[in-house]
Amino acid sequence: MVYLNGKYIEKDKAFVSVMDRGFLFGDSVYEVIPVYKGNIFCIKPHLDRLGESLKAINIPNPHTFEQWNAILQQLIDYHPQYNNQSIYLQVTRGCDTDRKHTYDKLKPTVYVQSSPFEVVRKEDFLKGVSAITRDDIRWSQCNTKVTSLLANIMYAQEAKQNNVEDVILCRDNIVTECSSSNIFIVKNGCVYTHPKGPHILPGITREVVLECANYCGINIEEVPTSKEDLFDADEVWVSSSTREVLPITKIDDVLINQGQAGELWSLVYDRFQVEKSLNV
Ligand code: PDD
Repeated sequence: MVYLNGKYIEKDKAFVSVMDRGFLFGDSVYEVIPVYKGNIFCIKPHLDRLGESLKAINIPNPHTFEQWNAILQQLIDYHPQYNNQSIYLQVTRGCDTDRKHTYDKLKPTVYVQSSPFEVVRKEDFLKGVSAITRDDIRWSQCNTKVTSLLANIMYAQEAKQNNVEDVILCRDNIVTECSSSNIFIVKNGCVYTHPKGPHILPGITREVVLECANYCGINIEEVPTSKEDLFDADEVWVSSSTREVLPITKIDDVLINQGQAGELWSLVYDRFQVEKSLNV
C-alpha cells in the first residue's frame, strides 16, 4: 500500500497527472525516514527538515506534525510483515492546467511509500566498502532536499558501474559529502566533517553519528577538509538513513586503514545501535 493525497491504495494503482510540477520540473522535495521494528527513527528532525525544504522552495506545508505522524503510522501499520521499513515521502508543488515555469497557488501532491529495509550488519562491514572521488557539480543549495537529483543519480550510476558504494564529492578541493550520504574523516583521534551550509545536506544520521562520537569521547571538528586530508585519513565513514554509518576503506584505489574498518568506527557503530533502541 502507498499513500497518495489522502488515500491508501495499491502501488500499481497510484498515479499522478502529467501536469504535476514534480513530473514536469522536479518541483518537489522529499524525505527518506528509517523505521525500526515499527518505530520511526528521528521523526521530529526529519519532519523539521521537510518543513525547511518546503519553506526554501515556497511550498506550503500541507500537514501539521501530528497529521504527518498519523499518515506515516498508518502506512507503517499496513506493512507488519516488514521488520524494518524505509519511508519515502514526497511533496510536489501540485498540478497546474498547463506547463509554465512560474506558478500560482496550487494544492501540493503528497506521496508516501514504505519499503522493506535491511539493517547493516556489523560483521558485513569489517572490511569496509569502496568509493571514488569526483568534482561536485551540484547547485549551491544542497541543504534543501529537492527531488531534482540529476547530478546525484549520475554519480550513483557511476558508483554502480565502478562497483563501489558511493561517490565522494569535492568542491574546489574541499570534501563536501557523497552523492547520497554525509562523510566523516578521522585523523589522530578526531572526527572531521563538513560544516552545515549550502554545500551539504544536513543529514539526520550525520547528527546522530556526531552525538554517538561525542558520547564515545571522540573529538569533533565541523570544518572543511581537503582531498589530501581524505587520502591521508586514519578512517573514513559515510552516513545516511539507509546506510546508518559505514566505513570506507578504499578510495580511488588508495587503501584507508590498510583496508580495514577502524576502531573508532566500531565504537560509533555500536553506540548507533544503542541510539536506535533509545530513539523510540
Ligand atoms: N539520501 N547527503 C545527500 C546528498 C543525501 O542524499 C543523503 C540522504 C544524505 C544523508 O542524509 P540522512 O542522514 O538524513 O539520510 C546526505 C537519502 C537516503 C536518499 O536520497 O535516498
